[in-house]
Amino acid sequence: MTVERHESKRALVLGVGNILLQDEGVGVRVVEELQRRFHIPATVQVLDGGTAGMGLIEDILDKDCLIIVDAVKTGQLPGTIVRLERDAVPAFLQTHLSPHQLGLSDVLATLTIIDKRPKDMVLIGIVPKSIELSLEPSEEINQKIDTLVDRVVAELSNFGFHLSSRQGGQRISPVPNLSNRIAEDRLMTAFTMADDFGIGCPAMDSEHQVQIGLVTAMGQALEQGCDKAVVDGILEQLSSYTNAHCMAEQLLMRLYAYPHYEAHLQEHDRLAEQILDLQRKYQAGEIQMTLAVIHSLADWLLGHIKGTDEAFGSYLNNHDLLAS
Ligand SMILES: [Fe+2]
Ligand SMILES: [Fe+2]
Repeated sequence: MTVERHESKRALVLGVGNILLQDEGVGVRVVEELQRRFHIPATVQVLDGGTAGMGLIEDILDKDCLIIVDAVKTGQLPGTIVRLERDAVPAFLQTHLSPHQLGLSDVLATLTIIDKRPKDMVLIGIVPKSIELSLEPSEEINQKIDTLVDRVVAELSNFGFHLSSRQGGQRISPVPNLSNRIAEDRLMTAFTMADDFGIGCPAMDSEHQVQIGLVTAMGQALEQGCDKAVVDGILEQLSSYTNAHCMAEQLLMRLYAYPHYEAHLQEHDRLAEQILDLQRKYQAGEIQMTLAVIHSLADWLLGHIKGTDEAFGSYLNNHDLLAS
C-alpha cells in the first residue's frame, strides 16, 4: 500500500508498554531510538505512550496515519516480529493482552464511534522473551530494537513521510559485554577494584551495572576521542536510565514500607539534578568533559550504591522480603 504524500497529512508513531517490565517496554525503547537516530519532520509526531490509556486520545485523533510499536503475546517464539494493518489492529488489541493494550483498544473504539480514527494504521509487534521487573530488556529483544526502528522508518516512508539520519546518532548499547568492558577499562580502575558493588538484590544489581557501564562507556569514548554527539548520547542515556532506575527503586521501597524512604529519595533527587546539570553545562559548552568530571560522577554513583542502596538491600534481605 503506497500513499501519496500530502503536506497536511500527519502521522503518529506511538511506542507503548511498561519499561519497568523488561521487554514489555520495547515499544518505548524503539521510539527513543528512532528519535536518537533520525530527524523527525514536523508532520510526524513520535510519542512515548508508556502505559497511558484514554489519555492518548488527543494525540491520536487528528492523525491520518498511526504506527503502534508494542510487545505482543502471540504464542510465537520470542523475538518474532508481527505486522498488522488497518482493521486487524483494533481487532488484535481487543484481545486485551495487557492493560495498556486494553486502554489503546478503548481509544480506537471511541475514535471509531466519532469517526476520527486514523485511516491508516499499522501495528509492529514483537513477541517478548521476559517481562520480569527490570529496566533492562532481554538480550534477544535488545538485539531487535534497531530492526524495529528500521521497520518503523519503512512504514513511515510507505505513508509518504521520509526521515533523514542524524549525524553521530549511532546507538551506544550499555548492555552487551558489560562485564568485559568494565574489566578492560583502564580509566575505571576504581570500579574494577570495587567490583563487589552488589547489594544483594538481583534486580537492582543488574541496573546498577548498566549505570556503571554507561559511565565506563563515557570514559572510553573520551579516551578514544569520539564525536561530541556520542558523549551527548551517553549522558542522555545515563540521565534517563538513572531516572527510571530510581523510580523502580523507590517503588520497591514503598512496596516494602522502607523506613528511610524519604532520605533515599532526596539522594536520588540530588543525583538526577547532578547529571542534568552536567548535561546542560556540557551541551552549552560551559564545561569540558574530562576524566576528573567522569571520576567525580563515578565516585558519587558508587558511593550511593555502596552506602544508601546497600542499606536498602540489607533491609530487604534482613526481612526476607526478596524471597516472598
Ligand atoms: Fe538508590
Ligand atoms: Fe540504585
